[in-house]
Amino acid sequence: MDKINFFPSNFNVKNKKIILRLDLNVPIKDKIITDDTRILLCLPFVKELINKKAKIIILSHLGRPEGKKDSTLSLAPIYKYLKKNLQTNVYFYMGNFDDEVENKFSHLKEGEVILIENIRYFEEETNNDENFAKKLGSLGDIYINDAFSCSHRKQTSIHKITKFIDKSFAGPLLKKEIDAINLVIKNKKEPVTCIIGGSKISTKINVITSLIEKINNLIIVGAMANNFFIFKNLKVGKSLIENNSNEIIKKIYNKADKNNCEIIIPNDCLVGTNYKGEGKNKNLEQIEDNEIILDIGSNTINKIKRIIDQSKTVLWNGPAGYFENKNFLNGTISIAEAISKSTSEKRLISVVGGGDTLAAINNSKNELSFSHLSTAGGAFLEYLEGKDLPGLSVLK
Ligand code: 3PG
Repeated sequence: MDKINFFPSNFNVKNKKIILRLDLNVPIKDKIITDDTRILLCLPFVKELINKKAKIIILSHLGRPEGKKDSTLSLAPIYKYLKKNLQTNVYFYMGNFDDEVENKFSHLKEGEVILIENIRYFEEETNNDENFAKKLGSLGDIYINDAFSCSHRKQTSIHKITKFIDKSFAGPLLKKEIDAINLVIKNKKEPVTCIIGGSKISTKINVITSLIEKINNLIIVGAMANNFFIFKNLKVGKSLIENNSNEIIKKIYNKADKNNCEIIIPNDCLVGTNYKGEGKNKNLEQIEDNEIILDIGSNTINKIKRIIDQSKTVLWNGPAGYFENKNFLNGTISIAEAISKSTSEKRLISVVGGGDTLAAINNSKNELSFSHLSTAGGAFLEYLEGKDLPGLSVLK
């Protein structure tokens, strides 16, 4: 297998324009960053490049604005954060990528930073557009992808840009992520349990069906589990569901049967009548038409804890409930603390990942310990699946 071209730490970047793709996709509410874990992880390398007197052009997306300039998805709060935390001039570029774009960056001096506004404001980003890649590529001398968590996306700032720039590398955070995941894959011990949360089953179907071949237990939590309840003819009230998912779920159960993988779904849950209030613990048969499932219930938590306790490897991606409201955080925190306890007692190898998962578990009052905490959600799962991620294959 070809090797990824990692950025050599002794590379002379003085006065070189570095295009640095980061994942600054952090949760923001009312223009306030509510969890800065992903930024904190990126900062050491940015600081290293500043000290080495590179000119740094940072690219990132925030959310999925689908080519529209949605002001709620502006990187402005992140710009302010960088300005406060980096001891250098930091600029914010909100302009377009026309033929003059190169000149607009010519004022950048050694050790200075420009953050470009949400790159997904341009539909050419998600289309992996050739001309857009050419314009982005013209901004720098070297490209570094330090966003493992975005490397499963075939998008311009991750993929096509590398065609229009002399030297492309993977950054140190990306390296750390894949080294850690590779180590876990190599050393994984059975029973292996995978816990998957989040809302969309359709985006995770491939990874789920492929993981079923490699694991012993698959625990489904979060809004994704609602589709399994519907499949089992249970009522879910006003809960979030995805239409036409029955076929997908049937496939998952068939594959699990063939591969001796047990699928565990919640048997009780916390419900509310809106996203803001408090929750009531209910069995699945008791859900009323006006109720929304917002977290896993106490019996389910105990069951998951028992499975974690019996497992030797746990891979977890996606929160168990609507963690944005603290009343529905308990399921996620309980899972995190159970994994952490077994990991620190050296009984478990654990990899925990995903932007929402990081944001949710940071609410724990205890210090948590995992074999590896990944910034990546989808990318982490696809990497586990054994896929060649588009953002990594162009760096080989
Ligand atoms: C993530 O949060 O997993 C990454 O930032 C990628 O975001 P995306 O799923 O919108 O591409």
